[in-house]
Amino acid sequence: SRKWVLMVTAQTPTNIAVIKYWGKRDEKLILPVNDSISVTLDPAHLCTTTTVSVSPTFDQDRMWLNGEEISISGGRFQSCLREIRSRATDVDDKEKGIKITKKDWENLHVHISSYNNFPTAAGLASSAAGFACLVFALGKLMNVKEDYSQLSAIARQGSGSACRSLYGGFVKWIMGKDEKGTDSLAVQVADEKHWDELVIVIAVVSSRQKETSSTTGMRDTVETSLLLQHRAKEIVPKRILKMEEAIKNRDFASFAQLTCTDSNQFHADLCFRIISLVEKWNKAEGTPQVAYTFDAGPNAVLIARNRKTAALLVQKLLFCFPPNSDADLNSFVLGDKSILK
Ligand code: PMV
Repeated sequence: SRKWVLMVTAQTPTNIAVIKYWGKRDEKLILPVNDSISVTLDPAHLCTTTTVSVSPTFDQDRMWLNGEEISISGGRFQSCLREIRSRATDVDDKEKGIKITKKDWENLHVHISSYNNFPTAAGLASSAAGFACLVFALGKLMNVKEDYSQLSAIARQGSGSACRSLYGGFVKWIMGKDEKGTDSLAVQVADEKHWDELVIVIAVVSSRQKETSSTTGMRDTVETSLLLQHRAKEIVPKRILKMEEAIKNRDFASFAQLTCTDSNQFHADLCFRIISLVEKWNKAEGTPQVAYTFDAGPNAVLIARNRKTAALLVQKLLFCFPPNSDADLNSFVLGDKSILK
């Protein structure tokens, strides 16, 4: 038989939660204890680029991350591959003269090559962009007909936050009720054009890999903390409703208040300088100008109400930071570079 390779390349941005997912009710299927809401970044800045290829000459599934081969024998990769493969349909590429039937996919192997243009596993949601991109690219390659929400439920099984990167703009991950997780998926709250005044500035304070994986972090907290159960059942549901309202009305005062409050629950002890800078500034202005939020690492994500504020913010941050002895401080990643012009 003739040798051939079929390839698909996809690019997926990362997302930043403003109402956070923290705590799993099922670790294997990755089912959360509460809904969450995020903002998907512009793909030009923090994103994963993944190429998936298939050829009859490949004798096993293999993957390279940032140029180095990694093992994909773990449950999360295997779940994504299995779920996508089981939905593969016939491919008929007339241009290349390649025909693959649904049955063929069971015996064909894939090679996956993935690059992050930002630090991996440093709390900047690299796994969100990574698994969303993997599932999307494999889905295209295997001619899977599912819609984005259904794909999001597959990406979720790679990394919870990944389900929210299938959509742009503002995205809600609905926790769902089903034990099998079929209704634990992402939906778009508002698209990327809805509130395009917002600018997201990410201060990369450290590119070191985080010491505690979010899975371990969540496990410790879920088991030990009644506070977290209280958060999931009593606090977050109300916050989610308010956040959806704030997004729909482009109400920055509420958006900022909700984002910061939700973040404080996890990171009261982190990056005090950024927090106090933002707080002082918002107070001085009388109305909120900037919201901050932190994920599993020390890197601050700052959301400015408009471009003018973002430009001022970058100046203020530059004053706040370089004198710091932290040699790890290396860059500012801007949601929109044009504000520097
Ligand atoms: O998707 P994971 O397992 O990497 O969890 C990420 C969780 C947070 O980023 C801390 C919060 C969130 O909702 O994204």
